[in-house]
Amino acid sequence: MSNPQDPLLSVRNLGVVYNTSQGPVHAVSNVSFDVRENEVFGIAGESGCGKSTLIKALLRLLAENGTATADRCTYRGRALMDMDEEDFRREILWQEISMVPQSAMASFNPVHRVGDQVIESIQAHRDDSRAQAMERAAELFDVVGLEPGLLKSYPHEFSGGMRQRAMIAMALSLDPGLIIMDEPTTGLDVLVQERILRRIREIRSELKSSIILITHDIAVIAEMSDRIAIMYGGEIMEQASAIDLFENPHHPYTLGLKNAFPSITTLGTELISIPGSPPTLVGPVQSCPFAPRCPFDDAICHSANPEAKEIAEGHIVRCAHSADAARFRELAKEKSTWLS
Ligand SMILES: Nc1ncnc2c1ncn2[C@@H]1O[C@H](COP(=O)(O)OP(=O)(O)O)[C@@H](O)[C@H]1O
Ligand SMILES: [Mg+2]
Repeated sequence: MSNPQDPLLSVRNLGVVYNTSQGPVHAVSNVSFDVRENEVFGIAGESGCGKSTLIKALLRLLAENGTATADRCTYRGRALMDMDEEDFRREILWQEISMVPQSAMASFNPVHRVGDQVIESIQAHRDDSRAQAMERAAELFDVVGLEPGLLKSYPHEFSGGMRQRAMIAMALSLDPGLIIMDEPTTGLDVLVQERILRRIREIRSELKSSIILITHDIAVIAEMSDRIAIMYGGEIMEQASAIDLFENPHHPYTLGLKNAFPSITTLGTELISIPGSPPTLVGPVQSCPFAPRCPFDDAICHSANPEAKEIAEGHIVRCAHSADAARFRELAKEKSTWLS
């Protein structure tokens, strides 16, 4: 049963393995986090680090060759993994946890009017009449900043930004407790991105939903999130409140990511990117996944995958040398640190 102290969503030791002809791909490993009521929880990391896999596992939308395991995965105290498929689809998916998928483009059927698709999705879960569902759809379009008249349009008549907003309207349609947005602004031009982010902020203050916001853009995450998880190689390397993460970063990968993106305070300074490429994730990880690219690695990093440590309340770091963070922070500012 749900308890007021329960987090909205609680995940412990989530893992996902894809079976491939090259062997098992460990796309997500040891992932633990909570999402609280009415917060934006940001998940950031380079492309291929397992962000989409993580949320697909939660929503049971994994590809056929993927298998998820977890010690715990609860929504308002309810164990999601134990629910049978039909209950999950009827009671959780869209009703309680909805998703704006990574390519909203592909999410609308090209031969039906956008409005009809929103209305149908409402009616599939609720006893609303068509007129009620239509009214709700118009309201939702208004919330995301689309003219309700556009409900009559076909998907191809929408720009990328409009389609993204229509998808957000769809995700809001059943008043879910949690909305997961997978790269909601990726591929859109900066002005459209800004407009969508503004809408997401408004939605969040008007509605009571929590949001998991996924992106590879650390500037977007910084601007939008209350708390942030930084992923690398299928694992969460560091998580903390947005303020802690930016003022007191500990993991070398976080330091590298921060360097790679401009911010208001670093405008004009040279961008430093992290040399090397992310791990392939084939086979189990026996060392810190970031060790091969880490400027501060030593034998310990290559001999075992470090445990997650809570270094301050709510600030969790997975690095064998988290005690040296202050020194790393200074060194990480130098370009030469990343080149050697
Ligand atoms: N169906 C699949 N079969 C095998 N590997 C997959 C499959 N889907 C994703 N992957 C791999 O899993 C890893 C994580 O992918 P993904 O979750 O899409 O990352 P992200 O969303 O962070 O870009 C990548 O290495 C990707 O190639
Ligand atoms: Mg993705």
